[in-house]
Amino acid sequence: MSSGKLYGVSVGPGDPDLMTRRAYALLQESAYWTYPVRNSKSDSYALNIATRAGLSPPSDHCALIFPMTHDESKLGKFRQRAAEKVLEVLSTGNDVMFLVEGDASTYSTFGHLARHVIDMDSSIEIETIAGVSSFNAAAARLQFPLTEVDDKMAVIPANYGIETIDQLLNDFDTLVLMKVKPLLDDIIALLEKRGLVEHAAFIEKAGSLEERVVRDVSTLKGQTVNYLSLMLVKNPDHERGEILRGCRKKSTDNSKQESVLNA
Ligand SMILES: C[S@@+](CC[C@H](N)C(=O)[O-])C[C@H]1O[C@@H](n2cnc3c(N)ncnc32)[C@H](O)[C@@H]1O
Repeated sequence: MSSGKLYGVSVGPGDPDLMTRRAYALLQESAYWTYPVRNSKSDSYALNIATRAGLSPPSDHCALIFPMTHDESKLGKFRQRAAEKVLEVLSTGNDVMFLVEGDASTYSTFGHLARHVIDMDSSIEIETIAGVSSFNAAAARLQFPLTEVDDKMAVIPANYGIETIDQLLNDFDTLVLMKVKPLLDDIIALLEKRGLVEHAAFIEKAGSLEERVVRDVSTLKGQTVNYLSLMLVKNPDHERGEILRGCRKKSTDNSKQESVLNA
């Protein structure tokens, strides 16, 4: 019997209407569903989006545990265990759907799972279904254009720290700060120092029933927010080089850029 196929099915950030037709169609097929949870007692945000879209899990489905930890050896064990479970189902000839919150290629557990599966059996076929990421949905919800004309944008987990964020604000027009929860107060202090509070916006659980939008981010000081929250920041003072033959000259290294263009 040939093995089933593993799908990473993006279900969007929370609003079931942001699930793609492809994801919706796949989840109506008879296949085994899996979905990530933090521990054996927690609910799956991805599964919740699918059920709110009117889809019902098949009789065969199971949660795969991916704990919230930076301990790589612990993470490795859980990823391995998840991959073993997926392979066990695939070996029966069934396809496996792994439901992913947001987009499956954006800070997703699916990449780890797929790599572990392939390491254990390189013949397994894998397909990733693209989806709406949390920050794309956030930008739309907040009426916050991410990029225009030749703006530069960086997407980073905030845990790189305040110095990095400060530096990136010099280099980019737009920052998408993911995973802001642990550093929220420090980020707000930085934005206040740089006079950027009015150019920032915050969203928690975008698209879900518990969605929270905060436009004056300084009001969040001292609050504990949900892990599923992010901040969008613009730096209207970001310096750009002038345009030379359609290309932006680097403001810091004009002579080099010019000599390349004149060569
Ligand atoms: C592990 S990443 C998952 C990203 C997801 N795959 C995506 O496409 O956006 C988790 C981080 O994404 C952001 N995030 C995910 N879903 C969100 C949502 N519905 N609302 C706000 N932020 C969200 C938060 O910054 C959170 O800490």
